[in-house]
Amino acid sequence: MQKVRTALIAGGSGLVGGHCLQLLLKSDRYSQVISVGRRELPLIHPKLEQLVVDFDDLKPAAPDMVADDVFCCLGTTIKKAGSKEAFYKVDHTYVVELARVTAAKGATQFLVVSSMGANAHAMIFYNKVKGQMEQDVQQLGLETVHIFRPSLLLGEREETRSGEEIASKVMLPLSNLMVGPLKKYKPIAGETVAQAMLQAASLNQHGVYIHPSDEIARLGTQL
Ligand SMILES: NC(=O)c1ccc[n+]([C@@H]2O[C@H](COP(=O)([O-])OP(=O)(O)OC[C@H]3O[C@@H](n4cnc5c(N)ncnc54)[C@H](OP(=O)(O)O)[C@@H]3O)[C@@H](O)[C@H]2O)c1
Repeated sequence: MQKVRTALIAGGSGLVGGHCLQLLLKSDRYSQVISVGRRELPLIHPKLEQLVVDFDDLKPAAPDMVADDVFCCLGTTIKKAGSKEAFYKVDHTYVVELARVTAAKGATQFLVVSSMGANAHAMIFYNKVKGQMEQDVQQLGLETVHIFRPSLLLGEREETRSGEEIASKVMLPLSNLMVGPLKKYKPIAGETVAQAMLQAASLNQHGVYIHPSDEIARLGTQL
C-alpha cells in the first residue's frame, strides 16, 4: 500500500491552483493539504491547513511548510504586477524560494506551472523569466521536478484579462486545426493542467520532466 502523503500548494486562489487545490482535497493520495498564500481562502476542509505567508520572507513560515509533494501555481502578469521587476519577483523569485524552502524541509517532488515558450535565453521577457525560473528550480537538487508548459489557459477567473480573452477568441476557432506538431499550441483548460499535475505526482518518478501543452492534455485525461 502506498504511503499517504502531505501536499503543499501555492497559488490555490488562482485558476490552475484553485482546481489543483480541489483535486488535492479529494485525492486519497494526500491525508493533509497545506495551502500557502498571501491571504486566507474562504474554504474549510478537514484535510486543509492554511498558511498566510509573506512570500518576500518565507523564513517564519518555513517550520510549517513540511510536505512531500509541492504544487506551485503562482504567477502574475506584467500588467497586473505593475512592472517587469514586480512580475519577476512573483514568477521567478517567489517560485524558486518556495522550492528552496520546501526542499530544505524534506519535499521530494516539486511540480510547477511554467509556460509554453519558457526559455532562459529568450528575447521575450516573459519567456525568459519562466525559463530562468525553470533552470533555478532544477539547481536545487530536488528528487523530482515536473515543469508544466501550458499554452493559453482557458477557464473562469474573477478578473477579466482582455489580452487573454482576445487570444482565446482568435485561437479557439482554430483549435480543431491544431493537430500533429501544432497540438502543443492548442489552448488548454486550467482544470486539465491541474489534473495533469496530480497525475504526474502519482507516477512517483525521479528526475526532471518538462511537459509541453499537448503532453499536459494527455496526462490530464489519465487522472
Ligand atoms: N494565463 C495563461 O494563459 C497562461 C498560459 C501559460 C502559462 N501560464 C502560467 O500558469 C500559471 C498559473 O496561471 P493562472 O492563470 O492559474 O494564475 P492566476 O489565476 O492568476 O493565479 C495566480 C496565483 O498566484 C498568486 N499571486 C499572484 N501574485 C502574487 C503575489 N504578489 N504574492 C503572492 N501570490 C501571488 C495569486 O494569489 P492572489 O489570489 O492572492 O492574487 C494566485 O493564487 C502562472 O504561472 C502563469 O504564468 C498562464
